[in-house]
Amino acid sequence: MENNGIRFKKYFKEYKISNVTTMIKNNSKKPKSCQDIYQDKLVVITGATSGIGYATAKKFASMGAHLICVNRDKERSELLKNEIEEKYHVQCDYILADFSVMEETFNVAFELLKIERNIDVIIHNAGVHLTKRQLTEAGIEKVFMVNYLSSFIINYLLKEKLKKQGKCRIILVNSEGHRFAPWGMRFDDLDWSKRRYTGLKSYGAAKLAQLLSMKKFDDYFIGTGVTINAMHPGAVESSTGKENGRFYKLFKQKVLDRALKPVSFASEALYYLSVSKDLENVSGKFFNLTTLEEPAPPALDKDIAERLWHISLNLANLFDGE
Ligand SMILES: NC(=O)c1ccc[n+]([C@@H]2O[C@H](COP(=O)([O-])OP(=O)(O)OC[C@H]3O[C@@H](n4cnc5c(N)ncnc54)[C@H](OP(=O)(O)O)[C@@H]3O)[C@@H](O)[C@H]2O)c1
Repeated sequence: MENNGIRFKKYFKEYKISNVTTMIKNNSKKPKSCQDIYQDKLVVITGATSGIGYATAKKFASMGAHLICVNRDKERSELLKNEIEEKYHVQCDYILADFSVMEETFNVAFELLKIERNIDVIIHNAGVHLTKRQLTEAGIEKVFMVNYLSSFIINYLLKEKLKKQGKCRIILVNSEGHRFAPWGMRFDDLDWSKRRYTGLKSYGAAKLAQLLSMKKFDDYFIGTGVTINAMHPGAVESSTGKENGRFYKLFKQKVLDRALKPVSFASEALYYLSVSKDLENVSGKFFNLTTLEEPAPPALDKDIAERLWHISLNLANLFDGE
């Protein structure tokens, strides 16, 4: 059992009030936008059948990019493909995958590896917020698998291809919610079998894990032309939380949704981070929409990032160097 007191002490002195006040200020800033077209580039977006992913897919298509959307529902993927191809005259292909299933996650990476042309942008957007603990067939807590481990596996298996390309921007749709894991990762209880499960904390842990993995991928990609950055997409209108119970949905509809911004805030910000020349060599950073921001101290812990890397490889049955 890891000692909570030690974890608390480790990060407590690194917290500054100014981080929180800056975050609050940044939350109300309008995101920067980019007007450059993105003709014939290839963009991969996960979770493009609703919310932020759907708006982002349309944004890229409207600027001339071809898409590969990674979705879990065939019927809605066909509808998306037809809508985008008819309206924007670009190609919109899709790969089907449920990110809570290990084999399907691996298959996404294998399908992307088969593509001979360069992938210009990869947006890891798919995510879920659950109020009740669920385990995947592999025994992994579902929010951790969908919001973090799936993006880790895909990035890990693609890293050589991307390095050879000499150019690609990877964007992780992360969240200010990573701050809900204020004392860091609980490696002794990643599946939440020893603690009371809460939606906010499990979501926070998964988003924190993704930020830690960004640090390691950033080290790997130094000097290759490939960049990896994470962003908080704002508190925007989407279908998030739809897998939760009636009480949560009612609370979301009556309370949470009233303070939300249009989803275009997120899609414009994602387009800017993916395309703008301002971000040409920027990597390993966290943005609140388009504003550079310091994440919470546990997200900057290099030793923990190293430990998580090996734990993630283990969970996915991958071996370093693979
Ligand atoms: N909305 C916000 O205010 C907000 C704030 C901070 C961070 N975020 C992050 O933004 C991202 C997008 O969320 P959203 O708000 O747009 O919510 P959303 O409308 O629920 O979209 C989530 C997307 O992820 C897909 N997805 C969920 N579980 C999946 C699984 N097991 N396998 C494959 N795909 C799966 C969904 O597929 P279906 O279309 O089939 O449901 C959907 O396309 C998430 O990473 C979320 O954590 C959102």
